[in-house]
Amino acid sequence: MSLIVDGLTKSYSKHVQALKHVSFSVSERESIGIVGESGSGKSTLAKILLGLETYKEGSITFNGEPIAPKKRALLRQYRKNVQMIFQDSTSTLNPKLPIWRSVLEPLDNYKEVTPSFIEVEGKSRKEVAVQLLEMVGLTSEMADRYPWELSGGQKQRVSIARALSIEPSLLVCDEPTASLDVTVQMLILNLLKDFKETFNMSIIFISHDIRAVAFLCEKIIVLKDGSIVDEFRIEDIYDNDRHPYTKALIRAASIE
Ligand SMILES: Nc1ncnc2c1ncn2[C@@H]1O[C@H](COP(=O)(O)OP(=O)(O)OP(=O)(O)O)[C@@H](O)[C@H]1O
Ligand SMILES: [Mg+2]
Repeated sequence: MSLIVDGLTKSYSKHVQALKHVSFSVSERESIGIVGESGSGKSTLAKILLGLETYKEGSITFNGEPIAPKKRALLRQYRKNVQMIFQDSTSTLNPKLPIWRSVLEPLDNYKEVTPSFIEVEGKSRKEVAVQLLEMVGLTSEMADRYPWELSGGQKQRVSIARALSIEPSLLVCDEPTASLDVTVQMLILNLLKDFKETFNMSIIFISHDIRAVAFLCEKIIVLKDGSIVDEFRIEDIYDNDRHPYTKALIRAASIE
């Protein structure tokens, strides 16, 4: 897996420049954290990476191939490899579907994929879904429920199971724990950390919380007003030459 983002620039209007020449790369098994305050451009970046938002300048290269909206076959392959978890799983789970059907959506879209970690042979679709739910610590009893019958943390686990079902090589998480209370946040972060190791997956983890990012990621990128102002490895987080804005984020996190 290799992702190269080069000079990405995005404006929503003359006055709103959400991203300014953003460049970074993610390699195999690497986890990159992107932190910044509200409005710094984090979700815009996530949406562009997933092909859900257009951009004016710059390029995205995945495994050596430039990703452009018009190359449909390539885009399909890319979307299989790059999965996403959003802050609000309520909006991404179809309210009309029982949980087990939602979990299977990616596998239904990519019928050619047989995940290595799941026994599909002789299993019904629902049994496959239950295996996925169990993988994220949920029970078979959840399978027939509807999204509104689950807690926020449980829904986020369903989103994780769904995203991992087709063994993506890169998982993009946009504030996946922001709407959860602190103990549930930790459980979800631990789950992601485990899966990162198990699946040899690369992660882009977006958060305003530098502590959450530091827990999961080896490298941190700091976004401010659409620009990268700092980039460092986690062991250098307390270095004196960190950008003043990074230091402010660390201070804010430690007194919260
Ligand atoms: N669809 C849109 N139309 C116009 N402006 C937008 C749109 N989406 C985002 N913006 C603007 O782009 C900038 C970056 O927004 P973005 O959602 O990427 O920030 P963020 O870092 O994800 O913030 P938060 O932490 O609050 O989620 C903001 O100034 C925002 O108002
Ligand atoms: Mg956001």
